[in-house]
Amino acid sequence: MTGRSILTIVLAAGEGTRMRSALPKVMHPVAGRSLLAHVLAAAPQGPGTALAVVVGPDHQAVADEARRARPDAAIFTQAERLGTAHAVLAAREAIAKGADDILVAFGDTPLISPETFARLRAPLANGAALAVLGFRAADPTGYGRLLVEDGRLLAIREQADASDAERGIDLCNAGVMAFDGRAALDVLGRIGNANSKGEYYLTDAVGIVRGMGRDAAVIETGEDEVRGINTKAQLAQAEQVMQARLRQAALDAGVTMIAPETVFLSPDTSFGRDVTVEPYVVFGPGVSIGDGAVIHAFSHLAQASVGRDASVGPYARLRPGTSLGEGARVGNFVETKAAVLEAGVKVNHLTYIGDAHIGAKSNIGAGTITCNYDGFDKHKTTIGAGAFIGSNSSLVAPVTIGKGAYIGSGSVITRDVADNALALERNQQSARENWAARFRDMKAAAKAERG
Ligand code: UD1
Ligand code: CA
Repeated sequence: MTGRSILTIVLAAGEGTRMRSALPKVMHPVAGRSLLAHVLAAAPQGPGTALAVVVGPDHQAVADEARRARPDAAIFTQAERLGTAHAVLAAREAIAKGADDILVAFGDTPLISPETFARLRAPLANGAALAVLGFRAADPTGYGRLLVEDGRLLAIREQADASDAERGIDLCNAGVMAFDGRAALDVLGRIGNANSKGEYYLTDAVGIVRGMGRDAAVIETGEDEVRGINTKAQLAQAEQVMQARLRQAALDAGVTMIAPETVFLSPDTSFGRDVTVEPYVVFGPGVSIGDGAVIHAFSHLAQASVGRDASVGPYARLRPGTSLGEGARVGNFVETKAAVLEAGVKVNHLTYIGDAHIGAKSNIGAGTITCNYDGFDKHKTTIGAGAFIGSNSSLVAPVTIGKGAYIGSGSVITRDVADNALALERNQQSARENWAARFRDMKAAAKAERG
């Protein structure tokens, strides 16, 4: 199979009206990544591969998403929605380049795996003109049924055109097909629209290939892999399947999860050795966790890297651009954004650190706020190594706190602080001897007089 060139065509011109959303169907996310991006990530890539994505006439956002996921994607527009075979032919120009194998997949089946694409291509190398991905549906209603006789695929019958007997078949068309590239244009060109919907059905390719005296093969897979998403309920179901897979992969890679069913992962979440994840943690896209780190309960991380032996949470939020050095500690009710915390930094309680660089081993007291936004622009806070920021301090950026400097609790710091200096910004404390006792006596006497 190696050495064969491959063109993958992904159909994404669907309307998705049953999602009841302004967002095109294939743009909806599963595990933080669009349906379309999942399919494109699974499609063959690298030397000898080409990719075509067919979008609807007003689907610029879908085209942009396709290019973001796969910069090598060629975009084609299907001007009118006349059926799946018609959609494939929108990419005629790509097909005409003559790849050995042509794969067709739907943009709304996000759980498909690269291995399945490879399995589906295998019959082509053995001379089949077509291979169809099939699955046993718990409820086959709505799917095309595979008509198989003596182990040979004879045709696919769409629900609307199927007889009662054919509707009883549970072996269904997943929608993914592999064509012999040399025969594809000929086969597709013979597909007509004489059916109950008046559409050009890609599924008619099977009967046509048979009529040409060539073989059509079926490769079976599990239903979970080929769930097509048409509704929000199906979207949620796909999320469940995807999360179960990601959790299993994390466990297999050695991550300790106390309640894996409560942890939400992204396809690109990366873990070092001996990482522990407590219950109810959400990993958005772009998170990497170093060896020995612990992510405590109820934390939320996205576009963040956590260093070796660092500790996060419980109840911490690491936003995009956060980088925690070795052994750093970010505790409860702490939010970080675009913040580099070098090794050994401690930010343990109730703090916001945004647009900041904090040198190694600094201690940031409870309630510290980097005031990074003036209503128009963001500004940076720089804190040198070994600094101590007293609790409830406001650091008004842009501002630099020197190495080893001390900030007295409750200060509002608006000017730079030199290395090893103490900065205090608060009124002198005053005290009146015995004042409280006198106050209580006076109040008690007044109350007694009133009766
Ligand atoms: C299709 C298959 C059916 C299969 C099922 C699996 C056909 C005729 N039927 O039915 O056998 O069991 O998928 O989910 O192929 N699309 C376009 N342009 C069009 C029509 C469709 O791009 O003109 C795209 C859609 O965006 C979608 C895919 O093709 O991604 C499938 O279209 P859909 O209308 O959902 O087909 P089904 O009726 O589900
Ligand atoms: Ca469908």
